[in-house]
Amino acid sequence: MPLLEIKNLHVEVEGKKILNGLTLTIKKGQVAAIMGPNGSGKSTLAYVLAGKANYHVTEGDVLLDGASILEMKPDERAAKGVFLAFQYPVEVPGVATMTFLRTALNAQRKTRGEGELSTPEFMKLVRDTSAHLGVNQEMLRRPVNVGFSGGEKKRNEILQMAILRPRLAVLDETDSGLDIDALQIVAEGVNRLRSPERSMIVITHYQRLLNFIVPDVVHVLAKGRVVKTGGKELALELEAKGYAQYVDEAA
Ligand SMILES: Nc1ncnc2c1ncn2[C@@H]1O[C@H](COP(=O)(O)OP(=O)(O)OP(=O)(O)O)[C@@H](O)[C@H]1O
Ligand SMILES: [Mg+2]
Repeated sequence: MPLLEIKNLHVEVEGKKILNGLTLTIKKGQVAAIMGPNGSGKSTLAYVLAGKANYHVTEGDVLLDGASILEMKPDERAAKGVFLAFQYPVEVPGVATMTFLRTALNAQRKTRGEGELSTPEFMKLVRDTSAHLGVNQEMLRRPVNVGFSGGEKKRNEILQMAILRPRLAVLDETDSGLDIDALQIVAEGVNRLRSPERSMIVITHYQRLLNFIVPDVVHVLAKGRVVKTGGKELALELEAKGYAQYVDEAA
C-alpha cells in the first residue's frame, strides 16, 4: 500500500477554487519533487495535508496508510507522522526553540501512547541533531524563528523534522533563501533522513536543489492539479523549457 494517496482533490480557500482534481500517490520511502509555476497550488497542497484551517475540501480524499485523514485535526495528523516545513516559517515569540521542540516531540509521543523523553535524553538528541545542521546552542535558546535569518529559519525547520522523524515530510521551498553552503547542509540533513520508512515531498522551483536531493519522481503542478509526472530528468527539462507547455495543457 502507498503511504499517501491523494484522490481527485478539490479545495477552496475563501470561496476561491485552488486545487482542481489533484491526484497523486506517494510510495513508502519515496522522495517526490513537486514543481510548478507560482500560484499553481503547491503551498495550498502542503497546507491541506497538514490540516490548516479554512482550506475546504469540496471533493476527493487524502488517504494515509489507506485511511482518510481529512477529518483529523492538525495535531492528530502530526502524531501520525505528517510534517510540514513552511515556505515562510512562523515566528513564535516568547517560546525558546528548545522548549518548542521538546513540547512538540512529547505531545506527539503522548498521542501515540509513548512515554516522554527524559531531559538528558532530549538534550542529547537535540545536541547530536543540531550539530549536523549547523544550528548552534545560542539559536536553540532564542524564541522560535524570532530574529533568525531566512537561512537560519530553514535550517531550523529541518532540525524540527530531524527531531520529530515524520513518516511524511513536506518541505515547501526549503531551498529558497539559502546560500550554497546552507543548501548543502540542509540537503545533507534531508538525505540523512531518507529511509524506506519515510516519504518526502520536496516542493521547489529550482533544479539545483534536486542535484543535492535526488528525487525518485518529479510531479508538475499547474492550475491545481498534476499535469505531468516523470523522473529526475523532468526537472532538467523544465529548467530548460519552462512551464508553458504544461500550463497550456492544463487550461
Ligand atoms: N487565503 C487565500 N485567499 C485567496 N486566495 C488564496 C489564498 N491562499 C492562496 N490563494 C491563491 O491560491 C493560489 C495558489 O497559491 P499557492 O500559495 O498554493 O501557490 P504556490 O504554487 O505555492 O505558489 P508559489 O510558487 O508562489 O509559492 C494563488 O493564486 C493564491 O493567490
Ligand atoms: Mg508556495
